Amino acid sequence: MANLNRRDFAKSTVESLLTYSLLGSLFQQQLFSAEIKPMAAQWIKEVHELGQDLKGKKLSQLQWKEQCEKLFTKADLKDLMKFVDFSGRISSTPFRDKGERPIRFKFPEVEGLPTNLVFGHQIFKLKKGQSVVPHGHNNMATAFLIMKGEFHGKHYDRLEDTDTHMIIKPTIDAKFGPGDCSTVTQMKDNVHWFKTESDEGYIFNIHILGLTTGSSGRVYVDPQGEQLNGGRIRARKIGAAEATKLYG
Ligand SMILES: [Fe+2]
Repeated sequence: MANLNRRDFAKSTVESLLTYSLLGSLFQQQLFSAEIKPMAAQWIKEVHELGQDLKGKKLSQLQWKEQCEKLFTKADLKDLMKFVDFSGRISSTPFRDKGERPIRFKFPEVEGLPTNLVFGHQIFKLKKGQSVVPHGHNNMATAFLIMKGEFHGKHYDRLEDTDTHMIIKPTIDAKFGPGDCSTVTQMKDNVHWFKTESDEGYIFNIHILGLTTGSSGRVYVDPQGEQLNGGRIRARKIGAAEATKLYG
């Protein structure tokens, strides 16, 4: 202390505190990445690799479906929700008046997680009674993972298209809760419709576009159409606004 006056002493104390706090936050960051690396980031990387195999035709659509559902079933929801800052930006995004609110976001950049992911992703946010409105898909594969809430989920095979209608056949009609998943491909369960039964519901969605040729996207339908033989339904093709009005 001999050479330190009061001012120097205060300064060095502040510097020490700064150093401690810097070390503290570095340490926390390290803890954070150590905690998420083996789980969410690794899981997302595996989803990416499966998607690459689907696009690269190493996997058929049905093989992708099987493997993707297996991978989605083993997702650690708690960890994934932390990774996407569920309690922050996802929770603070408002609901839509009708239909699902799609929330687009970037995954945190962590070591080992590719930045050029082959799939697009979003979280759908809904309140009770709202639906991810009924629609089929052109030239893409998608998967749903329920993050929070309870849903009544329906899927249909898309058997045939005319200019005005889609001939569909029910395949899945079930309750979906946290951790449950389902997939959409051109081959199987191409049309889906998820209605929220709890006060609020959140669905993690991935989509892989451009599997074959032509544009990729949604085709909205009204699944409450004319009943045909063999359990088939003649579903009218509708626009997004009408789908939201009828089912949102
Ligand atoms: Fe969809």
